[in-house]
Amino acid sequence: MVSAPNPVVAGEATEALIAEIRRLRDERHAVILAHNYQIGPIQDLADFVGDSLGLARAAARTDAPVIVMCGVYFMAETAKILNPERTVLIPDTRAGCSLADSITVEQLRAWKKEHPGAVVVSYVNTTAEVKAESDICVTSGNAEAVIRSIPEDREILFLPDVFLGSYLERVTGRRMHIWMGECHVHAGIRPERIEAIRARYPDSDLLVHPECGCASRYLWEQSACSRPDAHTHVLSTEGMLRHARQSNRGTFIIATETGLLHRLRKEMPEKQFVAADEGAVCQFMKMITLPKLRDCLRDMAPEVIVPPEILERARTAVDRMLAVAP
Ligand code: 13P
Ligand code: SF4
Repeated sequence: MVSAPNPVVAGEATEALIAEIRRLRDERHAVILAHNYQIGPIQDLADFVGDSLGLARAAARTDAPVIVMCGVYFMAETAKILNPERTVLIPDTRAGCSLADSITVEQLRAWKKEHPGAVVVSYVNTTAEVKAESDICVTSGNAEAVIRSIPEDREILFLPDVFLGSYLERVTGRRMHIWMGECHVHAGIRPERIEAIRARYPDSDLLVHPECGCASRYLWEQSACSRPDAHTHVLSTEGMLRHARQSNRGTFIIATETGLLHRLRKEMPEKQFVAADEGAVCQFMKMITLPKLRDCLRDMAPEVIVPPEILERARTAVDRMLAVAP
């Protein structure tokens, strides 16, 4: 018979692992950056926790010789693009992203040929190769400001998220050609589920990530999902934190990956945060674990490599993204 793990021993083992990670981080002079969807213990020990834009900014300003990205691969590539001379590590190279995988560089090149002269706007959830073929990158934190900054007479190719693209068309009034990609986690948060949770918490604010289907024009117009009202806000993960801090509401329904709840509840224990969908879990984000983080710092591997010719071209698009404030 297999006995259940002793929680005390398991707790001690975790504490020892965390202490080892901290020691290795100091020895390596490393900085640990973690996305808001990481597991709680990794968020708690990271030097910086944030959304994609915050992580890119943190990577751009660090002077640490080693950057460990606790997030998915495109985030580590972005850190490398901004720091070609530093060592960038990711605890598991298989931590991919279904959205980034929804367009290849060959598909983008073919699309550009159909629209010569169009401005290519890529969500940061893309491979370095796709970024290298793009004019400017955006994150959910600054996408609206970037679209508004593009001259009216320019055609726009927006990729790869169909829901974010449709949402941006709606709020900016700008027509764009939009790639039909999606994130399986956010697309899976169904409008009907949000409606049901909202009915249970009528005095709540609803905070929706723009990758969710119900944030798009199509679903607003065609489905049961609530139209935006004074208590519905479409925000990046960091935007959700900011909103909850400033709001005088007591309850918030969170329509994004559930990892964000850890930070929300830790920072604002007096407020109530309810997941729109408890099943909204990104298995790629959760591939980063404490033992893998320890091994990565100990072995200084796996290292993220971006070929110099791709890195140089991708850098222009990423620098332009960082220049546009939300
Ligand atoms: P944020 O930039 O809002 O953190 O989103 C990143 C992401 O991968 C969403 O799924
Ligand atoms: Fe990619 Fe979706 Fe996971 Fe975000 S939640 S990293 S978009 S698969």
